[in-house]
Amino acid sequence: MDANALKIEAARAALAHVEDGMKLGIGTGSTAEELVRLLAEKVASGMKITGVPTSERTAALCRELGVPLATLEELPQLDLTIDGADEIGPELALVKGGGGALLREKIVAAASARMIVIADARKVVETLGRFPLPVEVNRFGLAATRIAIERAAARLGLSGPLKLRMTDSEPFVTDAQPFVTDGGHLILDASFGRIPDPRALAGALCAVPGVVEHGLFLGLADLAIVASAAGIETIAARPQ
Ligand code: A5P
Repeated sequence: MDANALKIEAARAALAHVEDGMKLGIGTGSTAEELVRLLAEKVASGMKITGVPTSERTAALCRELGVPLATLEELPQLDLTIDGADEIGPELALVKGGGGALLREKIVAAASARMIVIADARKVVETLGRFPLPVEVNRFGLAATRIAIERAAARLGLSGPLKLRMTDSEPFVTDAQPFVTDGGHLILDASFGRIPDPRALAGALCAVPGVVEHGLFLGLADLAIVASAAGIETIAARPQ
C-alpha cells in the first residue's frame, strides 16, 4: 500500500467519528485533504456538518468540493477537529506545522471538545524531533527572535539549525521567497534532533517575544488513527 492509500484509510476510519450536525474543525495537509474528499461525499449524500477550516488551503478545497464552512468567529466551540501530524509521540504529543498552518490548527484544536489525529504509521515516533519543529515568528525582529530561540533551546541542552522556511521554487530558478503563513508570519524550522522534554521546550518557546506559536501540540489530541499495511491502529491519549 502506498503512503497515499494509507492516508485515505486513516481518514476513512476517522469519518466514523463524524456525526450528523457536528461542528467540525478540519485540518491542513495531504492527509486532511483526503478527509475533505471523503467528507464531501458524505455531504453530497445528505450528511449535515459545518466545517471550520484550519487554513486558506483547506478552505479552498472545501469550497471546491461543497463542504459547508463557517469561521471560528461564527462557531467558536467545535465538537471535533480532525487533522494530520508530522510526528506522533508518546501520550499523543504531536509535531505539526509541516504545512505551515500550525497557528490556526492549534487555535481550532483548542476550541474543539475532541481532537483526532490521522496519519500513516511512519509518523509514529518514540521521541519527537526527527521532523524539524516549525516555529511561527513575527516578521519584526526575525534575527533577534532567532537568537533568543537558540538561547532558550540551549538552556535545555538542545541545539541545531533554525532554517527560515522558503516557498518552493522551480529547480534551477532562484525565485524562492520566505514562506508566509495565513497569519502573515514567517516560519523557522528548528532541527533540534531528539526533544526529550517537549513540555519544557514548549514553555521556553512561548516565553520568547516574537514567537507567535510553535508546532508542539501537547495534551490536545485525544485519539490517533494510524494506518499501516497491517490495518488501522487507534491510540488513545488517556485510558478510555
Ligand atoms: C499542516 O500545517 C501540518 O500540521 C499538517 O497537519 C502536517 O504537516 C501533516 O501533513 P501531511 O498530512 O501532509 O503529512
